[in-house]
Amino acid sequence: MSLRHLSVKALLFIGLCQVGRRGFASAPEVREPPKKIAIIGGGIGGTAAAFFLRQEFGPGVKIEVFEAGTVGGRLATENIGGYEYETGGSIIHPLNLHMKYFLDRLGMSPRADVPSKLAIFDGKELTFEESDWFIVNFIRMLWRYGFYFIRMNMWVEGILDKFMRIYQYQQFGYSFSSMEKLLHAMGGDGFLTLVNQTLEEAMLAEGFSQVFLNDMVAPITRVNYGQSVRINGFAGAVALAGAESGLWAVDGGNKLVCSGLLYQSKAELVPARVTTISIKMRPSKMGSVTNFYEVNYVGESGAAHSMYDIVVVATPLHQGMSDINFSGFSPPIPSHFPGRYHQTVATLVHGLLNVSFLGSTEKPEDFYVSDVLTLDNKAADILSLSSLSPVKIPKGYTPGPASKSKVWKIFSSQPLSQQHLQQIFLSWDSVWEKSWLAYPSYNPPHRRTPPFILHDRLYYLNAVEWAASAMEMSAISGRNLALLAHHRWFQQTGKIDQEDLHTRLRGEL
Ligand SMILES: Cc1cc2nc3c(=O)[nH]c(=O)nc-3n(C[C@H](O)[C@H](O)[C@H](O)COP(=O)(O)OP(=O)(O)OC[C@H]3O[C@@H](n4cnc5c(N)ncnc54)[C@H](O)[C@@H]3O)c2cc1C
Ligand SMILES: *[C@@H]1O[C@H](CO)[C@@H](O)[C@H](O)[C@H]1NC(C)=O
Ligand SMILES: *[C@@H]1O[C@H](CO)[C@@H](O)[C@H](O)[C@H]1NC(C)=O
Ligand SMILES: *[C@@H]1O[C@H](CO)[C@@H](O)[C@H](O)[C@H]1NC(C)=O
Repeated sequence: MSLRHLSVKALLFIGLCQVGRRGFASAPEVREPPKKIAIIGGGIGGTAAAFFLRQEFGPGVKIEVFEAGTVGGRLATENIGGYEYETGGSIIHPLNLHMKYFLDRLGMSPRADVPSKLAIFDGKELTFEESDWFIVNFIRMLWRYGFYFIRMNMWVEGILDKFMRIYQYQQFGYSFSSMEKLLHAMGGDGFLTLVNQTLEEAMLAEGFSQVFLNDMVAPITRVNYGQSVRINGFAGAVALAGAESGLWAVDGGNKLVCSGLLYQSKAELVPARVTTISIKMRPSKMGSVTNFYEVNYVGESGAAHSMYDIVVVATPLHQGMSDINFSGFSPPIPSHFPGRYHQTVATLVHGLLNVSFLGSTEKPEDFYVSDVLTLDNKAADILSLSSLSPVKIPKGYTPGPASKSKVWKIFSSQPLSQQHLQQIFLSWDSVWEKSWLAYPSYNPPHRRTPPFILHDRLYYLNAVEWAASAMEMSAISGRNLALLAHHRWFQQTGKIDQEDLHTRLRGEL
């Protein structure tokens, strides 16, 4: 039979067989959806990942979330005198779109607004106090710092504009295989430089003065990251955005988002500590070999293990944060990556503030300052002091002046001694302390952020924190990994690490 006699239909048929066979040979069985996915960690990162993985893979896949402690992780509240207060991650930026979307989807709302007033303390006295009169503030600032404030807002807005591109990319299903690629897609080489230099270097290069950095920028990096202006420039910009107006928190407590996402994603919560993740080979029906991940864990009823197609590690792989052994991998995966997490101690005191400690001559009944930031000097040995409002604002609540007994939160690098508390407070009913390993200790330049992909189908969500640590950053990473896991599973390489997305998607809505 000559080719000429083959009908078009037959040709098509042969063609289809070829495509079918080729597809089959290079992707053995993998086109079936995964059956089981494990997530290690039930903080905002892990629960966001559960939510987005369900969205990507549909209702058929079993998703299990392992949590050794409490769902919420670094989002936590504490009961003091009958009310709950945030003790970990507390503020959310108005443009944190994933957090906003979660609230909408979960039918939750932001907490009611409470008036606040900011001051800066140098260890002896208040060097700056926000006035009730916007114009008075403005003139005072202009007098001392010229237009640096306005320029700083513009600088942060410029970075935020580029940052916001990630939402469009994710909306269109694009994902990134490393933090560097994700940063580059948002802000090009400029963002890569920003994470690799200190905030101080970045702002001095932009023409800001050292005095402005010391007086106004350092207090903000201290309250938000417990560190100096030598944190990386990207985390610095996130910290500065965290000092803008319109910040919000979740009514009833930020951690409620985590339990809500768990419920919404129909994931199963496994209250257990994961000890080892190992790779297991299983011969398949077709004669090829398939990899599975065996997750070993210890729960209330002892040690156990299960097999998964995909695993997402959603806890920092660092000393003091988690202790997971990776067994059988080549090259080996370390339990702990280089670098460490920074200690920030949160002390909640229900008591009467000694306003003289702040060098203030105002009467306590006239002292309405709610947030005291501090300069980076030896005399100021606390990072910040803030008056807290409950996670749910009671009817008719007003924060009130310092003459009222209130709940104050102090951030410090070391636990506060009894003597120290006696200087700050006239009296108190209760003191509660929690020492967090809160966020990375940022020391740019660093050689490389940890990878998103630890192995074929084993992913690492918290690598994102080395650019900046925030609830929204973990949520963005959760969405990215869900997309990445999906596209890699179904070999849709066109949706991974695409260049020039910003130009290509311009005009698309
Ligand atoms: C004091 C403080 C203030 C902060 N302020 C803000 C803020 O104002 N705004 C903001 O956006 N962010 C803030 N952050 C940062 C923010 O809280 C974190 O970036 C975010 O909560 C990280 O969430 P995650 O889910 O990625 O990690 P985590 O919340 O740390 O979750 C990891 C979870 O994994 C669990 N786990 C660990 N090991 C294992 C194991 N082997 N097996 C099973 N489970 C395990 C842990 O128990 C934990 O629950 C703050 C953090 C702190 C500590
Ligand atoms: C991890 O492995 C090391 C060495 O094999 C062992 O000493 C340690 O106990 C293991 N840790 C856990 C949490 O299983
Ligand atoms: C309040 O603080 C001032 C200044 O530090 C100090 O002199 C004074 O003793 C404190 N008051 C009390 C009652 O501790
Ligand atoms: C950061 O700087 C280090 C050392 O200067 C360099 O090796 C590394 O490649 C840089 N990383 C990025 C992402 O630019």
